[in-house]
Amino acid sequence: MSENKPVTSVLFVCLGNICRSPTAEGVFAHKAKDLGLNFKIDSAGTAGYHDGAAPDKRSQDVAKARGYNLSRLKCRKVTEQDFHEFDYILGMDAANVRDLKRKCPEEHHAKIQLFLDYANAEFDEVPDPYYGGKRGFELVLDLIEDASDGLLKSLTK
Ligand code: 4NP
Repeated sequence: MSENKPVTSVLFVCLGNICRSPTAEGVFAHKAKDLGLNFKIDSAGTAGYHDGAAPDKRSQDVAKARGYNLSRLKCRKVTEQDFHEFDYILGMDAANVRDLKRKCPEEHHAKIQLFLDYANAEFDEVPDPYYGGKRGFELVLDLIEDASDGLLKSLTK
């Protein structure tokens, strides 16, 4: 008999969906696969300025150096359907969470959290690296690896 337990779904959200949230999607998917765990995983942005674009080259490069391939991901904007479809909707910063809650039907607000609620780091938010240098992209990756480990632990408890 087949098991009917639905697959847990996780949506990572930032502003542009070209730096932080695709990095979170790629890292979390890689770590889940390494553990043999199956989740529905996606990412999106609260703004749609880069629709259809691949992740920022700087995000791709720092991720690649640690073994994560982001090259096949495509940027998209958050949709109304996302609020119904995903179990966890995790914003990278407080502005993302605020923007998501403004768009999300009240009954789904509990799905929306800061991703770093799952991390051990002394940061509450994943800082936007877009206008900065390479160190900002490395910090994004450090924080995302930490929170991904915490989220995996929480989902497998
Ligand atoms: P993200 O970074 O939210 O981590 O994807 C940004 C990407 C693009 C812009 C801002 C932040 N932008 O202003 O175009």
